[in-house]
Amino acid sequence: MDFSGKVAVITGGASGMGAATVRQFTAANGQAIIVDRNAELAAQVAAETGAIAMIGDVSDSTFCDQVIESAVAKFGQLNILINAAGIIVRSNGVGTSDEQWHRIMNVNVSGTFFMCRGAIQHMLKQDDGGSIVNFGSIWGDLGAAGVAAYCASKGAVHNLTRALALDHAQDNIRINAVCPGEVNTPMIQSERSEAVTPELMARLASTVPMGRLADPAEIAKVALFIASDEASYMTGSLVNVDAGFTAR
Ligand SMILES: NC(=O)c1ccc[n+]([C@@H]2O[C@H](COP(=O)([O-])OP(=O)(O)OC[C@H]3O[C@@H](n4cnc5c(N)ncnc54)[C@H](O)[C@@H]3O)[C@@H](O)[C@H]2O)c1
Repeated sequence: MDFSGKVAVITGGASGMGAATVRQFTAANGQAIIVDRNAELAAQVAAETGAIAMIGDVSDSTFCDQVIESAVAKFGQLNILINAAGIIVRSNGVGTSDEQWHRIMNVNVSGTFFMCRGAIQHMLKQDDGGSIVNFGSIWGDLGAAGVAAYCASKGAVHNLTRALALDHAQDNIRINAVCPGEVNTPMIQSERSEAVTPELMARLASTVPMGRLADPAEIAKVALFIASDEASYMTGSLVNVDAGFTAR
């Protein structure tokens, strides 16, 4: 893929799949803007790739609007938005506190919405529109025990993606989601009540039909294909990249 002349805002770009997306996008000659709350990691990925970093919390709509305004002021355009910022709460429904519920909804759902809204408002003014890829999950379609709020948040991201795609189907703005399965990033090890051991990782891998976790780069490739002009007939699609997980 060649992203020469393209500008992308990539939330969650400091870690995991967001960082892998920044690496591939910049390697393909794109100008990336990392949006992340982790200043240290964002600075590292920015230094490595030539991306610029904007530090803040995507659950703050004022910050999201500022990101879009700054990106457009600096580069004159915004072609792609990739929403990879996200958090997980590993708890069943009754064990989920008000604070945990609101936090995950604020980050995963509101953060995705605020970034989409800001980007779309600008893309509507561009002759060549734009493209948005949200990070859903297999857990946005399937239920899973012990992650009630996460499942609810990703289900909301999926249907937000469909609804926004229909809002803008005639505006040259494509809005899709990539829905990863089990991916080897810091998130898969975070918030666990049991120790993260090689046995735990092997057990997770054994739940996947292909028998292994994904490398973040394997998901980033698909996200960037969907974001690219090559995917010109795709909008409102939820693309599972899950090694057969949802095929059963
Ligand atoms: N890892 C998996 O197995 C998996 C599977 C399916 C979907 N996902 C989704 O993919 C996306 C990327 O996940 P990952 O596994 O790469 O996670 P990760 O934890 O490695 O990276 C997430 C990034 O988002 C940032 N972030 C979190 N909250 C933020 C906020 N409020 N504002 C700004 N930045 C914030 C973090 O600082 C981090 O850099 C997430 O939306 C996640 O829910 C992950």
